[in-house]
Amino acid sequence: MDSIVVTGNGPLQGDIPIAGAKNACLALMPATLLSEEPLTLTNAPRLSDIKTMNTLLASLGAEMAVLQDGLVITTASHGEINPVADYDIVRKMRASNLVLGPLLARLGHAVVSLPGGCAIGARPMDIHIEALEALGAEIELKDGYLHAKAPGGLKGAVHKMRFASVGATENMLMAASLAKGTTVIENAAREPEIVDLAQCLRKMGAQIDGEGTSRIEIQGVDRLHGATHPVVTDRIELGTYMLAPAICGGEVECLGGRLELVESFVEKLDAAGVSVEQTDRGLKVSRRNGRIRAVDVVTEPFPGFPTDLQAQMMALLCTAEGTSVLEEKIFENRFMHAPELTRMGANIEVHGGHATVHGVERLKGAPVMATDLRASVSLILAGLAAEGETVVNRVYHLDRGYEHVEAKLQAVGAKIERIKE
Ligand code: EPZ
Repeated sequence: MDSIVVTGNGPLQGDIPIAGAKNACLALMPATLLSEEPLTLTNAPRLSDIKTMNTLLASLGAEMAVLQDGLVITTASHGEINPVADYDIVRKMRASNLVLGPLLARLGHAVVSLPGGCAIGARPMDIHIEALEALGAEIELKDGYLHAKAPGGLKGAVHKMRFASVGATENMLMAASLAKGTTVIENAAREPEIVDLAQCLRKMGAQIDGEGTSRIEIQGVDRLHGATHPVVTDRIELGTYMLAPAICGGEVECLGGRLELVESFVEKLDAAGVSVEQTDRGLKVSRRNGRIRAVDVVTEPFPGFPTDLQAQMMALLCTAEGTSVLEEKIFENRFMHAPELTRMGANIEVHGGHATVHGVERLKGAPVMATDLRASVSLILAGLAAEGETVVNRVYHLDRGYEHVEAKLQAVGAKIERIKE
């Protein structure tokens, strides 16, 4: 397994290009199952999770061409579609569950393995099931698989989600696009990835209003056609790299960054003493004079502070002046980066969903273990300004969500390299 070695190396300077959003792309790709015509996605990120989704869609009968630069994926599902999403693929990536809604809408039946838990939590699918049952689906759990059918086709309905689940909103949005009649999703997730999916479905002929708000209305249509759609900028990669100059000093411009993707995150950076400026190329980030100040953070569904930036923000707050309290309200076990940061000299107390971070002057490099995608990158960020060398092991987690992380950071002056094992 590869590891990444980071050595504290002073202020950063230069540009970091931000890729297309992993979490948008993982919802856009299953939309190809809704139409017999090709769906072409440009600005797709080059990530192992995207390859996994390609493998899953191919197992269902979709054909795709990922052009050599990895930026364009064209998928057509005009042939025979296999309704079974196998455990061996689904267990690798929870987002595989996003084929459930499209398969039900296209075929009227689907057999999709439950993804199983992952490091950050149990991650059940009850909200997805309730949403699709509201559209008339009959779903039962057998041998670890969800067996779903809608013999008479899906029918529009008004449905209020008990929690604004991103994936359940995406599954329901795709299924309702081909249901008979009108669907209203209340308490829908509002993430930019939902907006991106709705805009792509509209290009395919879907009739959708209200995406980005908590009430989305969909008029079902008989069929959807092909389309070409650019994947939206990855706001989590954006926020991650914005923290590099915040932690190291200097000035970095994150190309393609837009303020509206990271508003609540930027509010916290501003309170901590980091300045962010929208330019016509992206977001220019630099640390104002003096030490980073402690701030409190609560993770919430969009537009609140993103749970996917909580670990990275903690890396910044480890050396802030004062004490910060981070409350993780989305996942039940998302502080696994805390003990690893403690190995680097951080002073963190975790009690249930709260982590209290007492700022220290500087962290010290150490061998640390990556446990999940966002925890991995928070350890790299911490290593950028730590004294000495940090070795982050098990970086396969990292490659799921960050393309060429060492090249992007080297380009702005970081001392970072990958050790292939
Ligand atoms: C999406 O996961 C993202 N993944 C996650 O990013 C992100 O952390 C999460 O949304 C929250 O923003 C993708 O988009 C591929 P949820 P998703 O359904 O859809 C519970 C990353 O690092 N829940 O909004 O699975 C669930 O257990 C990943 O890129 C139920 O209880 O998130 C969790 O506690 C990590 N029942 C909470 O809701 C359900 O049926 C949020 O889940 C569904 C979810």
